[in-house]
Amino acid sequence: MFDFSLMQSLLPGVPLRLLESTGSTNSDARVWLLDGAAHGSLVAAARQKTGRGRMGRAFDSAEGGLYMSLVLRSDLPAGVLTTLCAVAVRRAVFSLTGIPLDIKWVNDLQRNGKKVCGILCEGVWQGDVLLGVVAGIGLNVRQREFPPELQEIAASLYPDGQAPVSLERFAAAIHQQIMALLPQAPAHIAEYRQACITLGKPVSWERADGRHTGIARDVDVSGALIIDTSDGPVSIAAGEVSVRSQGTPRI
Ligand code: BTN
Repeated sequence: MFDFSLMQSLLPGVPLRLLESTGSTNSDARVWLLDGAAHGSLVAAARQKTGRGRMGRAFDSAEGGLYMSLVLRSDLPAGVLTTLCAVAVRRAVFSLTGIPLDIKWVNDLQRNGKKVCGILCEGVWQGDVLLGVVAGIGLNVRQREFPPELQEIAASLYPDGQAPVSLERFAAAIHQQIMALLPQAPAHIAEYRQACITLGKPVSWERADGRHTGIARDVDVSGALIIDTSDGPVSIAAGEVSVRSQGTPRI
């Protein structure tokens, strides 16, 4: 159970919805945004039944993780916000735990090659008017185990189940970092590049016309991955395709 008073004291003035269990905090935040939620409003849950990730994948959301979504009254593109959230989570985790995470383009944070955090930014539209964005973050904090299909590719920060830092403190630190980085966007891209382990590596991706390969060279200010291929540089926007580091499983 979240400590509501603690969260209020860590994030004064921030509208909060703290849930023991929900379907998806991104869905909850979307409904709240449509209902008028202010910029920075936060939904957090200790479990999700239908947590979702990019490309229509499910996001395992068992007890022990932190599942949170921010309402952002922002018109920044999803790629900018996704990369910004990745930098924010990395900063927050390092400041609270001293654990340095790697960023795998575009929306994953990893520790020793295993995913500990996923980010899903979703625009909320009314007709063709963008009302805002929901920035969803799933952080594996102290799960002791994962379903068999995830055991090789996912990890938590504290796999023995003993986390010295509460979910409230992680949520508050991540929220503060996101709100601090937003006014300077896309300045965070320089820090993103430094932490992005995809750069310099061979990658492959699928499009309707088949499988492509190249070497990831850069991330531009929109969050797109620039890949050198035998036909010249290619730019892949966040959300467009799933890019796979060659020889590693897709996560
Ligand atoms: C991914 O890894 O593809 C993105 C995962 C994003 C998961 C978070 S958990 C909180 C929020 N609610 C959801 O349903 N998804 C995001």
